[in-house]
Amino acid sequence: MRETQVSMKSEQDERVYGSGNENLPSNTVTKERLRAYYDRFFESSEFRHYDEGATRKILRSLVRKAGVGEGKTVLDLGCATGFYTDQFRHLGMSSVGIDISSVGVSKARAKYPDLPFVVGDAARLPFKQSSFDILFMSGCSLTNTRDFPAIQSFFGSLTDYILKGGALVVLSASDFSGEEAPINEWIYHTYDEIQRYVDRDSVQVRGPYVTNLRLLSKVGRIALNRFTSLVLRKIPGRRRWSVVYFIGKKGS
Ligand SMILES: C[S@@+](CC[C@H](N)C(=O)[O-])C[C@H]1O[C@@H](n2cnc3c(N)ncnc32)[C@H](O)[C@@H]1O
Repeated sequence: MRETQVSMKSEQDERVYGSGNENLPSNTVTKERLRAYYDRFFESSEFRHYDEGATRKILRSLVRKAGVGEGKTVLDLGCATGFYTDQFRHLGMSSVGIDISSVGVSKARAKYPDLPFVVGDAARLPFKQSSFDILFMSGCSLTNTRDFPAIQSFFGSLTDYILKGGALVVLSASDFSGEEAPINEWIYHTYDEIQRYVDRDSVQVRGPYVTNLRLLSKVGRIALNRFTSLVLRKIPGRRRWSVVYFIGKKGS
């Protein structure tokens, strides 16, 4: 197995897995249902992504916009079957994936046996604080709530795991309708609701940037700024946009 620079909590810490992270949008029943939902999903399916070339351009733009150089460490939160974890490795980063679904993680390990994958809860990370340059979260199930202080608290607690100068990069998608998808209870928050994901008094924030991943793969960071966000939001009609946040520790 490829050596990772990231240290896990000690055995004793693992028994108190998640202590100190209690102000979270965590509801055991919901998490169990989520885990069961994704276990079933991964038994027969995979998430679809852009091809590897486009994906690497997208991830490179995100990493650069985060202000993090090459050869750094990244934790892929909710890594599913490991696609992004592997793509980060191809960018020269030391990557680790974590997912609550053991079925997803088993598939990830089978596909990428030389990468480290952990079964675990993003809200109860089994790593030491200040372990990663980037925490990457794409398609964050834990924002599927309208308890915005809980989301703020969750993102705030994740910044504890970022090294100085690093960032939590949150990539989500919404049509800004405010509606809930009947199949998987995914909430498509309005733009105003998305702005409430972060408490700007306690963390350093850039975003939310509204973008399109195909555009991002073509034009790079120009697709990640306030002007582009504004223009895209003015386009009439209901369509699903990508939304990106860069969140860091205050003063870092
Ligand atoms: C919508 S999928 C996104 C997968 C992948 N990040 C991507 O963008 O293709 C959400 C993933 O998050 C995982 N997940 C949900 N809740 C989680 C939690 N509390 N901790 C860790 N992973 C979680 C699910 O098992 C699933 O793999």
